[in-house]
Amino acid sequence: MSTTFQLDTSTSRAHPTPQPMRRLTVPEIQRRKAAGKTAQPLVMLTAYTARQAQLLDAHCDMLLVGDSLGQVIYGLPTTLQVTLDMMIAHGAAVVRGSYHSVVIVDMPFGSYEQSPQQAYASAARVMAETGCAAVKLEGGAAMAETIAFLVQRGIPVMGHVGLTPQAVNALGGYGARGRTQLEHEKIVADGQAVQNAGAFAVVIEGVVEPIAVALTQSLEIPTIGIGASAQCDGQVLVTEDMLGMFERVPRFVKRYGTIAETISAAAELYAKEVRERSFPGAEQVYSAE
Ligand code: KIV
Repeated sequence: MSTTFQLDTSTSRAHPTPQPMRRLTVPEIQRRKAAGKTAQPLVMLTAYTARQAQLLDAHCDMLLVGDSLGQVIYGLPTTLQVTLDMMIAHGAAVVRGSYHSVVIVDMPFGSYEQSPQQAYASAARVMAETGCAAVKLEGGAAMAETIAFLVQRGIPVMGHVGLTPQAVNALGGYGARGRTQLEHEKIVADGQAVQNAGAFAVVIEGVVEPIAVALTQSLEIPTIGIGASAQCDGQVLVTEDMLGMFERVPRFVKRYGTIAETISAAAELYAKEVRERSFPGAEQVYSAE
């Protein structure tokens, strides 16, 4: 797909001039799975900033403002410290930077679990203050009532089952889920519950592959895998993982770039040129005439 916008760098770095292009909608994403099949898998990546969204937008069907931004952007130990205000600030930036993808914003830990009413108040803020099209929340059967409450009130919800990072303390770590029969059955039941509650799609994270395959075959809504299976109806990765921003590469990540090395090499060259006074050069300084 070609680029959907042009950057007006002469006036501003932050305000691209979009070429006319209609944004995809939540029902269109849901309809991409018809009669149990998705002809072309759905493409989703995380985005946290306007510029990142500008660069990813043309290539994606969905941009997820994931609460993984806590670790990736803020250096927090887990996603549990992420606040609603943080999600709203980054969600609004990603909506401003995109024209094509459906933007989905994660509901952070503590903003929705207490009651459907609490979830509605938080989700309504996210929708109104960011302009996003949907929210994502973690949890299966336990969250079904909440998902139904939001969906019935016009807030599209993407579910998230399997490894749910906000439950890291209860799960005891980030290892793949579903290795016992009991856990396998629970995750499959969670996926069913999320669908029955009205979610338009569901992320399946960090599960043994047969669970992802079973859910993809049995659910009518699209399944979006991360550490799941190529048979899912779509895939998502944290963009910084995919770009090679971090040294550690989890098993489910494939690196499509080496951005850490690029940044490090550029900073090293800049520092060298500053120290030897070869930057700024004649081209970077304003002459008097
Ligand atoms: O927060 C996030 O980035 C996510 C994806 C990993 C699915 O939830």
